[in-house]
Amino acid sequence: MRPVLYLATQNKHKVEELSALLKHNFDIRDLSTLSLTEEIPETGKTLAENSLLKARYIAEKFQVICLADDSGLEVEALGGAPGVYSARYAGEPKDDLANLQLLLTNLSGISNRRARFVTVLTYYANNTYSSFEGEIQGNIVEAPRGTQGFGYDPVFQPEYETRTFAEMSLAEKNLIAHRARALEKFINYLDETQKCADE
Ligand code: IMP
Repeated sequence: MRPVLYLATQNKHKVEELSALLKHNFDIRDLSTLSLTEEIPETGKTLAENSLLKARYIAEKFQVICLADDSGLEVEALGGAPGVYSARYAGEPKDDLANLQLLLTNLSGISNRRARFVTVLTYYANNTYSSFEGEIQGNIVEAPRGTQGFGYDPVFQPEYETRTFAEMSLAEKNLIAHRARALEKFINYLDETQKCADE
């Protein structure tokens, strides 16, 4: 029987994406099947801290196995901002377009456009955890291009590409994106752990 794995996210797209990729290893559940009434704390100063906070909170509160993720955009010339504050860079309520415009304003006149998207996945089971980081390096373009995706996709051009993420299909983006790379590391870890258990 596959173990039950809870995903610490309310985002339906992430649940679908992760369920498809992890269904051979786990019986995947989202948080709607737990009686969670409060917000999961996200008070960390880094993506890694927030990812761990979320995974630990759910795993310890409900005594379950949990996978949490936290992602963001880090821009070199802005000292790593918006980073952990990516979702609400321009303030409340969360507004993807305002975030992207503020980013372009803060970068106007700056020639160093280097940036990276990062995802940290944390797997928390039996009071221990493992974290997996995936990243994609790229540049922030001068003006938004493309209509696919979400968030900062229209201004992020991955290195070695001529298109922004928003000019790629979801399948093309997923081949190289931060979330997919973190997930690949997690799946390799599961395979290795399984191999050791079988020996
Ligand atoms: P989350 O932790 O995956 O919810 O990501 C936090 C925020 O980072 C999002 O609200 C977006 O602003 C930004 N972000 C993360 N991943 C991406 C991406 O793949 N494309 C564009 N923006 C992203």
